[in-house]
Amino acid sequence: MKPYEIPENLLLGTATAATQIEGGDVNSNWYHWGEAGRIAGDGSPIVAADHWNRYDEDIRIMAEHHHQIYRMSIEWSRIEPREGEWSADGIAHYRDEFETLIRSGIEPLVTLHHFSHPQWLEEKGGWTSRESVDLFLRFTEKVVEAYGDIISEYCTINEPNVFAHDTYIQNKYPGGKTDDTMSYFRAARNMIRAHLGAYKLIHTHRANAGHTDTKVGYAIHMAWFEAHRKNPLSRISRAIMDYAFHGMFNKSMMTGKLPLILGGGRVKNLHSRGYFSDYIGINYYSRHIIKWSWNPAVLFGSVNVEENLTGEQQNDLGWELYPPGLYKVSRKLFYQYKLPVFITENGIPDAEDRKRGKYIIEHLAELKKLIDNGIDVQRYYHWSLLDNMEWDDGYGPRFGLIGINYENQERIIRRSAELYAAICRNREVSQDMIEEFCKAAVSPS
Ligand code: BGC
Repeated sequence: MKPYEIPENLLLGTATAATQIEGGDVNSNWYHWGEAGRIAGDGSPIVAADHWNRYDEDIRIMAEHHHQIYRMSIEWSRIEPREGEWSADGIAHYRDEFETLIRSGIEPLVTLHHFSHPQWLEEKGGWTSRESVDLFLRFTEKVVEAYGDIISEYCTINEPNVFAHDTYIQNKYPGGKTDDTMSYFRAARNMIRAHLGAYKLIHTHRANAGHTDTKVGYAIHMAWFEAHRKNPLSRISRAIMDYAFHGMFNKSMMTGKLPLILGGGRVKNLHSRGYFSDYIGINYYSRHIIKWSWNPAVLFGSVNVEENLTGEQQNDLGWELYPPGLYKVSRKLFYQYKLPVFITENGIPDAEDRKRGKYIIEHLAELKKLIDNGIDVQRYYHWSLLDNMEWDDGYGPRFGLIGINYENQERIIRRSAELYAAICRNREVSQDMIEEFCKAAVSPS
């Protein structure tokens, strides 16, 4: 690894999601999922990192750490706690948070659905409900009415592929089912249609108000899939899984044309040509090895990690650390759609903070290589700013640059946070940084 500069057009910051850090909300489906004992360690999002009350402090840390951008989500149940009832307090709260960010020189990218929605929608069947698309669009309209004057960048839906998979195949998220492929495709179809509608709605609303800087997209979880031992059957599984988990979502959400498996049809765009996304939003974490399975309910494939990995090659959840995958998925989608690439998430659970520094240096190096090769990568949002509730895995995994002491909510500045701050400030990865973080295992901070 050689020292390198951060290209001028690549903006750096972090990402979070409301349910994972805010605390205090009893109207979301995840609160109820926690109450039902479905979050590891009897976890609940009820306190989390108490960001709802501490966003001033957290934004101050971001600014002191020279972050330029921040991806955050709005908790739908804070805005619409009961169906059709809008909370003035919830709306005012996020406005204040956005204004604080903007005043601090940090540009927000706002996600409208990040794995959570109101319990009242869950009770109607969540994203499998026929009403879900219209209800999401009504919520979107409210958001753009409330914040459209100051927020220009939106991410409609986070990882519809992981959401549908973990809810309807793996039974890990609220409304969970096991191997229910029908619900997987039904929820996928509704989320895709919701994205297409929201893209048009946000653009129309802001254009009518005279804004010309609107950017709307979605974030897809892109793992790098490889067939197990290049075995011919596993290659077939890899192709099916790659389509059902990545391609089907990207093609439909970009073009507005739904495949037959999602019922077919075409949603008309605002422009006679062009996509329903202004950027390619990629959440990248790892490589997966796909093995053939005879089970149609899991789409003839099982997802595995590479065999015989050493401790240094894995994160705390056992996922492979594989920086070249970030290059590969970004390059592939860029050549497919020729839109700017936003890395909307990339990060590591690493409680001892021994690998995070190296992880950041190696993944940013892949982005530098992409940019040097003519690929228009514009944003890097590190996941995550803070330790958070890792959904059904609860509070064990530690993804934060900033650690949280859950006893007293103290913010702990990890060594990797200082490294990232120095990269953001100096716009380079120096020889000293490589020596300190990449050569040997870093001692716990
Ligand atoms: C999600 C995050 C999650 C992260 C780490 C992504 O799938 O968008 O909410 O915490 O990965 O698992």
